[in-house]
Amino acid sequence: MVPVIVRTPAKVNLQLSVGPQRPDGYHELLTVFHALSLEDTITASEGSGVTLTMAGEGAEKLPTDESNLAHQAAALLAQNAGIEPNVTLHIDKQIPIAGGMAGGSADAAGTLVACDALWRLGYDREQLSEMAAQLGSDVPFALHGGNAIGRGRGEEITPILGRGEFHWVLALADGGLSTPEVYRRCDELRGDEQVAEPEIADELLHALRSGDADQLAGALRNDLQAAALSLRPTLRGLLESGIEFGALAGLVSGSGPTCAFLVRDGDHALDVAVALTATGACRTVKRASGPVSGAHVIAS
Ligand code: C5P
Repeated sequence: MVPVIVRTPAKVNLQLSVGPQRPDGYHELLTVFHALSLEDTITASEGSGVTLTMAGEGAEKLPTDESNLAHQAAALLAQNAGIEPNVTLHIDKQIPIAGGMAGGSADAAGTLVACDALWRLGYDREQLSEMAAQLGSDVPFALHGGNAIGRGRGEEITPILGRGEFHWVLALADGGLSTPEVYRRCDELRGDEQVAEPEIADELLHALRSGDADQLAGALRNDLQAAALSLRPTLRGLLESGIEFGALAGLVSGSGPTCAFLVRDGDHALDVAVALTATGACRTVKRASGPVSGAHVIAS
């Protein structure tokens, strides 16, 4: 059987509005996801049971057993189809781990798509989305890609039709941040404060429809940023440096610690990336654009 190769994107939240904690422990969200050209590549080939290997960005720090979300994705898909999960998976990582860019979720979404093709199951996107939601809050968006509103715990996706391409510089920090810890800190910082019902900013929707980077720069917002900065104060200086070097805007990506800088175009991205690299304030700097497609087969 020919191996199936799938590409699967990172995300940045252009707006991340965190509502109150629900009885199940999750927070009610209103978010706008944007899929980025920073992608992991998954190769699925015939195997016996699920075996997983990884290479690339942070791969040595990740477990390859059942605790890996990609492993769980293969098992869940096989269970739904009533077949044995026989697959050899290899993931080439570019998306930082525990970086607030949904790298683990991207791998889970990509594994669903890869195994569905390898095992010739023919599930449609809606069926795969239901399985994706069981694996994690950000997994349905990694399947979907593009620009989309996320509601509920982030798993209820509504696409946003947009125009144009946006360019980004991503500053990857040393070490990750734990998502549950960042949400906890957000609650602590808010204390008893009443949390207003979140709404999607009109300015953000206009910016996505018109492809206007300056307008988008003014509309970026992340409720988890204060919590991430409180857990990792050095990120404040990094965000300031990006703006000093000419980025249109900078924000913490999701629960951090990756910082995402919106820039004007590819040349501008290179200038900002070179300047940020020279500061030595971050582990590595990458360039990306968006929106891009969700997890999809590139060869089989
Ligand atoms: O769904 P996922 O496993 O990616 O979520 C990781 C953790 O992030 C959850 O266990 C929870 O602590 C936190 N979270 C949350 N509210 C959300 C999404 C995630 O509190 N909407």
